[in-house]
Amino acid sequence: MSPLLAVEDLSVSFVRSSLLDRLINPFPLPGFNVVDGVTLSLMPAETLGLVGESGSGKTTLARTILGLVQAAAGRIVFEGREIATRSDFRAMRRRSAMMFQDPVASLSPRLRVGTLLTEPQVIQGLPTPDRRAAAKALLALVGLPASFVDRFPHELSGGQARRVGVARALAMKPDLLLADEPTAGLDVSVQGDVLNLIAELKRELGFATMIVTHNLAMIRHVSDRLAIMYLGRLVETGPTQEVFSAPLHPYTATLIRSEPIPDPRRRSHNLAITGEIPSVFRRPSGCEFHTRCPLVQSRCKTEAPLYRPVGADRMVRCHFPLQTGGQERKAVSRASANQRGN
Ligand SMILES: Nc1ncnc2c1ncn2[C@@H]1O[C@H](COP(=O)(O)OP(=O)(O)OP(=O)(O)O)[C@@H](O)[C@H]1O
Ligand code: SF4
Ligand SMILES: [Mg+2]
Repeated sequence: MSPLLAVEDLSVSFVRSSLLDRLINPFPLPGFNVVDGVTLSLMPAETLGLVGESGSGKTTLARTILGLVQAAAGRIVFEGREIATRSDFRAMRRRSAMMFQDPVASLSPRLRVGTLLTEPQVIQGLPTPDRRAAAKALLALVGLPASFVDRFPHELSGGQARRVGVARALAMKPDLLLADEPTAGLDVSVQGDVLNLIAELKRELGFATMIVTHNLAMIRHVSDRLAIMYLGRLVETGPTQEVFSAPLHPYTATLIRSEPIPDPRRRSHNLAITGEIPSVFRRPSGCEFHTRCPLVQSRCKTEAPLYRPVGADRMVRCHFPLQTGGQERKAVSRASANQRGN
């Protein structure tokens, strides 16, 4: 089977400049890659979790895939066809949907839910003879009562607004859904409901999904594969359960171990990642994770590791990937020691 979406060596560059910079410097400033050489693919009906800390370039990558941000380099291939022109992106967007990071802010406050739900069809010029009935059917799909067609966005709870966001994204029956932090800002009790809803609808309707999140614990049960991003680059990809049971990259291992453990007696295992996230505008030399890596060695500070395959379907960017229990224990005990020193 060939991928629905393939991203090849994609880079996105932004210029870091203040007004003062632009006034005192008449020459164009250099761009910095906030997404750098990303290669990944998504099979039809597959769910990929894209995970990384704040500022790692997740939203920029998702927006670039849909042509909302211009790439500096690389290729986007949708159903085997390269997407290059504006009209290619428009055609691809008709088959795709994006749930934005802040769905309530992205819903127009003056429009009722019924209008918001059918707006995508109207914008795309599709016939919608009975908009009210179409909106009620979408509400039913996401488990909300038909009476919600007359509500305004401010009359919805966080979880209900997210469900409306899911319904709106699915209005065009997309083949690809890019969901940016679909559970951010929600009560923990509702977060699982929203992700389960996306997973259930995916099974029913068969679309492929890329879910962007900080929340590794949440994504674990709904994604088929994981892609871990650090400073705009992928550092590890692989099947979700394999990545969880045997992470290869020390960053992935630290992220998994820093997930909150509800039992307070086990708090000593609750490792947080240490050190500041470096800026993409000032990348560390060598391996970019070396300033925070519990396994750093002298080679890491000068030589950038390649992104290379490990086994059939995993990739890692590390000189010394975690493959043995001994190495992993060492990583964990060093991280613990670092934390005690903080
Ligand atoms: N329009 C822009 N101009 C300049 N820099 C930008 C712009 N948009 C994003 N950035 C920078 O690009 C980097 C990646 O940002 P992005 O929003 O993609 O990260 P993210 O992983 O989605 O973070 P978060 O988890 O906080 O949403 C950040 O350093 C951000 O400051
Ligand atoms: S290359 Fe070195 S610093 Fe980078 S992740 Fe691997 S062990 Fe850590
Ligand atoms: Mg983001």
